[in-house]
Amino acid sequence: MDRIIISGGTALRGTVRVSGSKNAALPILMTALLTDEPITLRNIPRLRDVATALKLLAGLGVQSRWQGEEELWLHCPALVQDEAPYDLVKTMRASFLVLGPLLARAGHARVSTPGGCAIGARPVNLHIAGIRALGARVRLRHGYVEAHCERLAGGRVWLDAPSVGATENVMMAAVLARGTTTIENAAREPEVQDLARMLNAMGGRVRGAGSHVVEIEGVERLRGVAHEVIPDRIEAGSFMIAAAITGGDILVERAPFEHLEAVIAKLEECGAVVRREGGGLRVSRRAALLPVEVRTLPYPGFPTDLQAQMMALLTQARGTSVITETIFESRFSHALELIRMGADIVIKGATAVVRGPSRLSGAPVMASDLRASMGLILAGLAAENTTELSRVYHLDRGYEAIEKKLGALGASIERVDR
Ligand code: UD1
Repeated sequence: MDRIIISGGTALRGTVRVSGSKNAALPILMTALLTDEPITLRNIPRLRDVATALKLLAGLGVQSRWQGEEELWLHCPALVQDEAPYDLVKTMRASFLVLGPLLARAGHARVSTPGGCAIGARPVNLHIAGIRALGARVRLRHGYVEAHCERLAGGRVWLDAPSVGATENVMMAAVLARGTTTIENAAREPEVQDLARMLNAMGGRVRGAGSHVVEIEGVERLRGVAHEVIPDRIEAGSFMIAAAITGGDILVERAPFEHLEAVIAKLEECGAVVRREGGGLRVSRRAALLPVEVRTLPYPGFPTDLQAQMMALLTQARGTSVITETIFESRFSHALELIRMGADIVIKGATAVVRGPSRLSGAPVMASDLRASMGLILAGLAAENTTELSRVYHLDRGYEAIEKKLGALGASIERVDR
């Protein structure tokens, strides 16, 4: 089992390049199921979640090959299967995103429900309500969602919560449906917008992505295209916080500043200096960190996927910070590990009160989910002595070559296999 060993205390300096967005790439990979023509995707990060998605797609009949480091070619001449098995869905919840495309292309799908997850219940009821509204017959049997339809028909979908995954699944189901679908209270995340761009390039008719109402006029068929995935705003935000927590100076190349407004605002409030430079953002900090209040919200609010990293940062701020997590009910597992490193954090329901600055000391810590892992690495960078992070497979799901990227910025970080 790999571990990551970090010796803290170095201010990170230099330039780092942001990879393609994991959360944009995953749904866009699934669009290969919607056409019998090949598609080419650029800026695809080399991550464990991408490998899992390719394995899932291969089982369904999608051929794929890498063309160079970041370009993927995919082709699904015909579906050979309609099932997403439990083994894959349980390791990556985004596997559930094949439901919409399979229904649209084949008229039937059998997709395992994801089950529990370290950060909360994460049900799929909204995905199911969405495809039902398009005329699919759905039943739950043996832990699987079984769905059938003749051809889906456009309908009105009201999402109780602006779920990113449900919005994407319904968009991919509706794009080949007869008639027009309206998704109300849709998720507005940049990754939803990137999926809409891909579907439109393929010949789909999607309007309003990025707003609360997405309208999809169904078309008869979609064609193969080339598409470049947007840069990863969460990876970018993580490097920005790395600059702030270590008192360093990092140019985050290709940081998508238009998708990071809430994050930039909070970092500036904390005392970091954030400047646009070239196509990216330079983040530095000289003064002491100031405490802030952070509330995670759907986009364009502060992203829940940067909450753990922000908590690590606020352990170093002078005063009391308050973090409220409104998206996932139990996404504070990293707090317990941060406390073991010497942080002063009190959790009450969905709120964490962080008192700082704490002198963090390195400790063996365990990652419980992807973003929690990054929070612990950031804490390790600010801590005295050595921090040893286990369960690194969580980190590998979503951060490309992280020890190399942080190492190039001057961090003392290595991966060991023991
Ligand atoms: C996506 C991201 C994830 C991010 C999350 C919130 C991907 C691959 N993952 O996850 O990194 O943390 O958005 O920004 O893009 N909900 C329901 N019923 C449903 C679906 C969701 O109640 O059917 C609830 C969830 O429990 C959660 C909220 O809606 O409380 C938001 O979840 P959602 O936006 O669906 O997250 P994901 O798409 O799973």
